[in-house]
Amino acid sequence: MLRRLHHEQPESFAFTAANQTWAEAQITKYPDGRQASAVIPLLWRAQEQEGWLTKPAIEAVADMLGMAYMRVLEVASFYFMFQLQPVGSVAHIQICGTTSCMICGAEDLIAVCKEKIAAKPHELSADGKFSWEEVECLGACTNAPMAQIGKDYFEDLTAEGFAQMLDDMAAGNVPTPGPQNGRYAAEPLSGLTSLKDYDSGQTQYNASVQLATDLGDSIKRIDGTEVPVLIPWVGKDGVVAGRAAEGQPPKPAPTPKPAAKQAEEAKKADQKAEKKASKPKAKAKKVATADAADDLKQLKGVGPALEKKLHDAGVTTFAQIAGWTADDIAEMDDKLSFKGRIERDGWVEQAKLLAEGGETEFSKKVAKGDVYED
Ligand code: FES
Repeated sequence: MLRRLHHEQPESFAFTAANQTWAEAQITKYPDGRQASAVIPLLWRAQEQEGWLTKPAIEAVADMLGMAYMRVLEVASFYFMFQLQPVGSVAHIQICGTTSCMICGAEDLIAVCKEKIAAKPHELSADGKFSWEEVECLGACTNAPMAQIGKDYFEDLTAEGFAQMLDDMAAGNVPTPGPQNGRYAAEPLSGLTSLKDYDSGQTQYNASVQLATDLGDSIKRIDGTEVPVLIPWVGKDGVVAGRAAEGQPPKPAPTPKPAAKQAEEAKKADQKAEKKASKPKAKAKKVATADAADDLKQLKGVGPALEKKLHDAGVTTFAQIAGWTADDIAEMDDKLSFKGRIERDGWVEQAKLLAEGGETEFSKKVAKGDVYED
């Protein structure tokens, strides 16, 4: 299968502040000179944040690890777990199509995907909410046929039940993961044949489903606010990596970058500083009014090119975007030729905040000049 970057890409990528902290902490797990070993966790976190791996995300990870862009693209395009094209804003469905699942009805599940989502894998549904693909054995063969949706397994599926699950998710509900036919785990379909009286102190669901239910993040995109996954890495010396902690010794100095890279970065920094110094006044944060155009690039997902398209469509203020209805979003999706983008990046929610004079993590970066060259 040919795996390459999607033909349409966003203008930029930035980890959320919490994800940035997490990513920096991951890098400290590896010995000096081996920071590139963190490439997969960082790419994975970028995908968990955005839903798929964009070119700017790949480049951002490469910059963090001092790697050539091509090297990181090689990793991203080699592993099928990395999605190189936009995925559904609600969920990307992965149907196991290997032997056990195929025998037990995977083709019926794929037929549901074709009917309810899109005729071909990796295509977005008409409303941009779902996408699907067939994958190789996911190791839950005893509970075939099954699908991975978000972070969890949904097992013992039937075509009817699976179709209903998609409807439920489209309506904003997340079905309970695990076996869907009443089985507790992977015991025989006809029931237990041994250890019948063994009291394991069972929880309501089997261990993995119980944890999935407790966390409740099956199809939630990771934004860094999740407590369990944000516990910072603590090295053997007890230093909390990636962020200052009370009473902790300071974070160890990062490995020096190669001289050529340092010189190049210093040159870029000088050029940026010169440009900034030559500007008559620092950019003040614009507040939405009926007459003044806002800097729409403060919305995560909107770069100079998309901002121009929005202007061409008569959209110049946060207040306008904050008031978009589902129909408006569908219309703008068509105009911007990037289906699902608006919902996926949460433009309306961001715009509401900015229109009220608030800030987002991303708008702060834009205001500081950390995202776009002036
Ligand atoms: S064959 Fe589907 S999980 Fe193994």
